[in-house]
Amino acid sequence: MIKEIKNRRSIRAFSDKNITDDQLNELLDAARWAASCFNEQPWKFAIASKGSDHYDGLFEALAEGNKKWVKTSPVLGVSLAKKTFDHNDKPNKHAWHDVGMAMANMAIQATSMDLYIHQMAGFSPEKIAAYLNLDENYDPVAMFTIGYKGEVDQLPDDLAKQETADRKRKTIDEIKFW
Ligand SMILES: Cc1cc2nc3c(=O)[nH]c(=O)nc-3n(C[C@H](O)[C@H](O)[C@H](O)COP(=O)(O)O)c2cc1C
Repeated sequence: MIKEIKNRRSIRAFSDKNITDDQLNELLDAARWAASCFNEQPWKFAIASKGSDHYDGLFEALAEGNKKWVKTSPVLGVSLAKKTFDHNDKPNKHAWHDVGMAMANMAIQATSMDLYIHQMAGFSPEKIAAYLNLDENYDPVAMFTIGYKGEVDQLPDDLAKQETADRKRKTIDEIKFW
């Protein structure tokens, strides 16, 4: 397995080291090159750096459990899916799938840059839709943090335990239909 897949992790202890605009652009470039149904690229990303009004605006939409650790991360974002195709206005059933493809590209690229991305479903899509003034064509898919690894002891005890726990996965046999 390539090391970028092996080393990718959803860490919660982020260092306060800043991420540059060039680094963010490199991550977005990786997202841009993901495969998508009809090459529609139905993804958009709202990304904000800590200290900005938009970071605070996005932060407000997070579930309380996520706020506890996200507060140290230098970058916070949300992925959006366009629910209809540009080419015929029909529903795009694979829009969320394709946003996941783009996020996976971004996460793998991040790992190659010693950065970590942690995606989250624990947020209010309604709050994000209101904050971003989204029309009904767009769904908020997942929020995410980006940053360098910090120290585990900066986390509350329960999260520190999770951070150092063994990672578990289904076996190949379990995921194999055939
Ligand atoms: C779509 C999605 C939603 C997730 N939601 C949350 C979340 O709300 N809070 C959280 O702490 N982790 C969340 N995670 C992280 C997962 O718990 C994590 O990916 C999983 O435990 C596997 O760990 P790993 O990514 O380090 O391999 C989410 C991951 C994904 C892909």
